[in-house]
Amino acid sequence: MFTLAHLTDPHLAPLPQPTASELAGKRLIGYINWLRSRKAIHSRSVLDAIVADMLSHSPDHIAVSGDIINISSPNEFIAAHSWLETLGSPDQVSVVPGNHDTYVSVKQRDGLGRWNAYMRTHVGRSKKLASGPNGFPTVRRFDDIALIGLSTAVPTPPFAAWGNLDQSQLDALKRILETLGEENQFRIVHIHHPPLPALTKWRRALREAAHLQEVLVSMGAELVLYGHNHIHNINVLPSRSGTIPVVGAPSASSCQEKEGRLARYNLFRIWHEHGRWRCEMTGRGLHTADGQVSRVEQRMLIG
Ligand SMILES: [Fe+2]
Repeated sequence: MFTLAHLTDPHLAPLPQPTASELAGKRLIGYINWLRSRKAIHSRSVLDAIVADMLSHSPDHIAVSGDIINISSPNEFIAAHSWLETLGSPDQVSVVPGNHDTYVSVKQRDGLGRWNAYMRTHVGRSKKLASGPNGFPTVRRFDDIALIGLSTAVPTPPFAAWGNLDQSQLDALKRILETLGEENQFRIVHIHHPPLPALTKWRRALREAAHLQEVLVSMGAELVLYGHNHIHNINVLPSRSGTIPVVGAPSASSCQEKEGRLARYNLFRIWHEHGRWRCEMTGRGLHTADGQVSRVEQRMLIG
């Protein structure tokens, strides 16, 4: 039995005080937005309670689906790296970036480069599993389970939050899913933006969602995990390998008391039995904004 924990969109608080020069351009809008509304939604104490509960279940691996930070200030990247270390080592934690992690363009060494160890691929020199030119898809293997990370995060104009999946990543994903499928691996695709069309508004959507859906249908996968929408949601996608559960999770720091929006993370227990894959999901999170973390849902997704 393998247990994967999925946590997304922590939007780490407190937000380090930005300098005047850092607030030039789009960051100013994001900072005002943080002070006026997001600060009240994303609670550090809620996130800390979610993380403590998650670690108490000793998952074999943790997938973090981006939007770790808010306005991509250099100090946020440093604080986020320290936070990632509290989850585990880079061997225990995988990250894919979200749009708030590329809120504006930041030099690699001051920005996403600080999290490189958590976004690297672990498949040696295998050509069939090689990443595209930007280092994605990443592939991590755990015996017969593989976690495939995609990067959709790009800087966008103010009030937009779309994602892009370039052709080289799509081509590499196709090859990787095919190769791992031939090896009967349990393939988990990990992405920030909703991976199917019509799961969010155009200005927030993955531009290549239809293409990604085509790849998933034609190559197959066993599970898809995403964030971005800050709401719990499960879709199913018929594919060559069977029905794929596509699971979106709410923000892990949210104290927004709306249906499906309170802080939560999901545990996926995966095992092989009588020649078939089984996967059980347990959602753990808040029932009320000031409550304790406990089980909110348990169901079989596969088998
Ligand atoms: Fe987010």
